[in-house]
Amino acid sequence: MTTHEAGWAHAEGALKGPVWLREPTDVNALVPSLWSTTAHKDEHGQLRVGGLAVADVVANVNTPAFLLDEEDFRARARAFRDAFAGWTVFYAAKAFLCTAVARWVAEEGLSLDVASDGELTVALRAGFDPARIGYHGNNKTVTELRRAVDLGVGRIIVDSFAEIERLAMVAADIGLADDSAGRAVQVMVRVTPGVEAHTHEYIATAHEDQKFGFSITGGDAFEAARRVLAAPGLELLGLHSHIGSQIFDSSGFEVAARRVLALHARISDELGVTPPEMDLGGGFGIAYTTVDDPSDPSQLVTEMGKIVEHECAALGIPEPRLSIEPGRAIVGPAMCTVYTVGTVKQVALDGGARRTYVSVDGGMSDNIRTALYGADYSCTLASRRSAAPPMLARVVGKHCEAGDIVVKDEFLPADLEAGDLLAVPGTGAYCRSMASNYNHALRPPVIAVRDGASRVVVRRETVDDLLATDVGVE
Ligand code: LLP
Repeated sequence: MTTHEAGWAHAEGALKGPVWLREPTDVNALVPSLWSTTAHKDEHGQLRVGGLAVADVVANVNTPAFLLDEEDFRARARAFRDAFAGWTVFYAAKAFLCTAVARWVAEEGLSLDVASDGELTVALRAGFDPARIGYHGNNKTVTELRRAVDLGVGRIIVDSFAEIERLAMVAADIGLADDSAGRAVQVMVRVTPGVEAHTHEYIATAHEDQKFGFSITGGDAFEAARRVLAAPGLELLGLHSHIGSQIFDSSGFEVAARRVLALHARISDELGVTPPEMDLGGGFGIAYTTVDDPSDPSQLVTEMGKIVEHECAALGIPEPRLSIEPGRAIVGPAMCTVYTVGTVKQVALDGGARRTYVSVDGGMSDNIRTALYGADYSCTLASRRSAAPPMLARVVGKHCEAGDIVVKDEFLPADLEAGDLLAVPGTGAYCRSMASNYNHALRPPVIAVRDGASRVVVRRETVDDLLATDVGVE
């Protein structure tokens, strides 16, 4: 046996998948933990979501298309809200936002974390209460800060000394520096607690050498809190830490909470002000493949709550009001992407094995995560039942790039052919929101499905949309 690449092996010319990928006994079966709660297959092997056959939904809108299971989204939002009762749950808009989703978030009683003026604009268009919005970003301009403050955004999470100055200037400009009613801009200080989160380097954010936040160990975080407290017109709401994304156990949160609370206590001791809140960020992981085993929100909250309670008791300080910012764990499992199979091709590898490449009508323009983070996904034949044996396949997009892979390894029926529909679960977070027009692809629509009805909440881009910004030829 020769190993050709990490996790791969060829045995006597036969291609084997990564060690964790098991050949299924029934290639038509769904693994429920990877799908939204209403997803299942009927007796004809047709995938159904929200009470509708996926094939019927896409018959009207074409593929690729994102299907958003509204009931599942709302249920996950509620589960966080209920598990974290007494805490504030901010849905992280960057994972996916459109006006319909902003409304669902509001209706389910969650607050909203935005990280750009664009996200803020979508939220406002949906009628989201600005007081329930937290505004993030490491490079907000004076104009953006001014707009947020003018609109009454509930909290601004500052990320640099320059931003504290800009925000103080904005506050002074609109008369908050000596406001007779005591109104002030509510500020959280984003800190880096120096935790090595067990996740991809590009989505880990609490170690020291990256662009976000103020270092606790280097003293910048304390200094930032001091400057906010000293700035007329700014009020220190608390400290904020986000250790990264796609995190499965509470140990990283535990270390972060301990370090942030120690700073919180120091601020209280040395600066004489006890900030009322603390935010532990988002990052709760979801299952993309059978390897992933995420904790449910209630288990996490119990663990995180205990950590905070214990630390506060040890430090002899009152517990701050807590907030969190889940994005992926709410919208990730609620969506799947539906593609149409085009070319199916066998490629000869060294050692005599052959790999089957299944090309679909989307790719890295609607899901960059495989190329960018080496993310693993799974998929299933969504339009029919197959009696064929499983074949190990790689699902690729239609873009001009060899790294344009949608699903690295999956067992699919050996009779897969052009025209079949494939569905990829777990694509709600950071897929449509990170979609691009690479190769002038038209970004796919998002179709909400619920109780047997479908509704386009984001339409497919058109060639006219693409050409609208191209003003080079009269
Ligand atoms: N709060 C803050 C301050 C954040 O920066 C993030 C994500 C979240 C909350 C939400 O994290 P979540 O619960 O969704 O993991 N594009 C990457 C993820 C980048 C996350 C950026 N910040 C990916 O596709 O995995």
